Amino acid sequence: MFFGCKNMGFSYGENKILKDINIEFEKGEFTGLVGDNGSGKSTLMKIMSGIFTEYDGEVVFKEESLNEDTKIKVGYIFQNPENQIVGVTVEEDVAFGLENIGTEREEMLRRIKWALEVVGLKGLEKSDPNSLSGGQKQRLAIASIVAMDPEVILMDEPTTMLDPVGRREVYKVIKRLVNLGKTIIIASHHSADLEEVSRIVALKDGKVHFDGKRDEFYKNHDFNIEYPIEFEIKKKINKNYDELVKYLGD
Ligand SMILES: Nc1ncnc2c1ncn2[C@@H]1O[C@H](COP(=O)(O)OP(=O)(O)OP(=O)(O)O)[C@@H](O)[C@H]1O
Ligand SMILES: [Mg+2]
Repeated sequence: MFFGCKNMGFSYGENKILKDINIEFEKGEFTGLVGDNGSGKSTLMKIMSGIFTEYDGEVVFKEESLNEDTKIKVGYIFQNPENQIVGVTVEEDVAFGLENIGTEREEMLRRIKWALEVVGLKGLEKSDPNSLSGGQKQRLAIASIVAMDPEVILMDEPTTMLDPVGRREVYKVIKRLVNLGKTIIIASHHSADLEEVSRIVALKDGKVHFDGKRDEFYKNHDFNIEYPIEFEIKKKINKNYDELVKYLGD
């Protein structure tokens, strides 16, 4: 197995959140992770990226249990980019994780340059991260993970905090990462986030409720997620925004 989990279970105290989860991802696959609020998407991602270490079953990366050495190959991007920003400048922010793993200076500079190019933040190296737009902050958070050269990137609702313009910026970066052969899993409530995924995994009642091709998911209404009303309203507003953006050009 390239990446996935076997018979994985997790509880917060007495509360069983995930039960007997078996999912397998192929290298380079682009997958959407969906499910109602509280269905366990973020918990699953934190387990699969090695942030949580106490669980039943196994997380597998390249045929082995995910461990201290390999978890660096699995990046996790928080919903709110503010949670991930630590540097005083953009380049320092990207450098932070690299310094932690003792990367040599030459290699560090090379990786920072590359990561900022991938996310389209070249030229902003010396900027204060707090002065960036929402989309730029999220792209910076992605750059910090990309610089660690992960093979798998788990993105937890990466566009929820963004306006439609910021969202488009992030989509472009995600597409680029898919083209670079990264294995990407994106948790989302926005159908627009899931337009390009080839596969959908849906969680319900702590279990995998659907796992298959994106088109099958949308064809079968039984599997469709019930969105809370605010999402419906947001979706309508966003649709108008998207049309406006399309009209104004990229
Ligand atoms: N630190 C915690 N302690 C106790 N319970 C928690 C904790 N974090 C999450 N939970 C509970 O675990 C369940 C799954 O939460 P999780 O955040 O993984 O869901 P989610 O699918 O990411 O939801 P959302 O769509 O709102 O982001 C929820 O019932 C939540 O209340
Ligand atoms: Mg969540």
